[in-house]
This record gives sequence, C-alpha cells and structure tokens, in this order.
Amino acid sequence: MQTKLSLEQLNALTSAEFHKVFENVVESWPEAAIFCSAMTPFKSFDSMITTFDNYLHRLSRENKLRILRIHPDLAGKLFVENKLTADSSYEHCCVGLDKLSPDDQNQLTIMNKRYKDKFGFPFVICVREASKFEAILKGITERINNSPDMELEIGINEVKKICRLRILQLVNNL
Ligand code: GUN
Repeated sequence: MQTKLSLEQLNALTSAEFHKVFENVVESWPEAAIFCSAMTPFKSFDSMITTFDNYLHRLSRENKLRILRIHPDLAGKLFVENKLTADSSYEHCCVGLDKLSPDDQNQLTIMNKRYKDKFGFPFVICVREASKFEAILKGITERINNSPDMELEIGINEVKKICRLRILQLVNNL
C-alpha cells in the first residue's frame, strides 16, 4: 500500500504529481485533479475535499452526465471481466459485491438495466457508505422512481461522496 500524504507533502507536490496521485478520485475523470491542482496550497484536507465538491457542483449538465456515464455498472460486465479501476474494484469488495449469491447478482443486474434504460446513465451510489448489498438494492429500487433531473443531482452527490472517501484513502488524515 502506498504511504499516505501529509498536508505538507500534498501541498509540496508538483502539478504533474498531484494529477497522477488524484487522477481517479472522480472515476476515470482526471480533469478534476487537473482543475483542483491549480487551487493548491490547501489549508486542510477538508478544504481540498470542498474544492473537488465545488468543481463537481459547477460542471455543466453535459459533463455531469458524462461523469455518471463513465461509472461501471455495480457488479456488472466490467466487474465480471476484472476490468474495473483499482478504486472501483476495492469499493466492490468492501461491500461484498464480489461475493453475491446468483440470486442477488441477478436482481442487481435486472435493476441496473432498468435504471439505465430509464435514465441513460448507470446507477451510482457511494457503496462504501451504503455498506451493505441490501442498502444498495433498496437504493436502486427507490431511486428508479425519481425524475431524471433528480437522479442527475443525486448521482453527482454520490460521486462527491465517493471522491471524498477516495481522497481520504490517499492522505494521512489523523
Ligand atoms: N460506487 C462506488 N464505486 C462505484 C462504481 O464504480 N460504480 C458505480 N456505479 N457506483 C459506485
């Protein structure tokens, strides 16, 4: 496991180093780290997280949609083919999505498809915060009834939560 960065070390990174370390805190969207590196130095990890939140909040609707669409389906094809990013793979394992029973796997596949057919982007939830398969299934079953605009907003808020946890994974927050 890589060493966690102190605030001092974080603020001393070159732009290129910052881009590399934080390139996937927003799934497969390195532009977030590129934009936020221009805001260094940060006075705290919280203010760094707020900077990423604000970046996501202010994106155009098109870019918010692009970010949601980049996310892999939970326990979907990329997962089965072992092609997830390391972060996404870790999050899958955290909540046991790698050990679902065939029934649970089936249920999630059906709901993922129904959700994507309705909204045109995959169901995104901060799985580490949801923490259990049942909560994920409940989340998708409830959220599928929302309007597309609501789901765009909720989805991006989930991306913010995922981003926060991924950042905290990389820094020494003690
Ligand atoms: N929540 C946390 N990680 C992921 C992911 O990789 N995909 C989706 N859809 N939701 C997530």
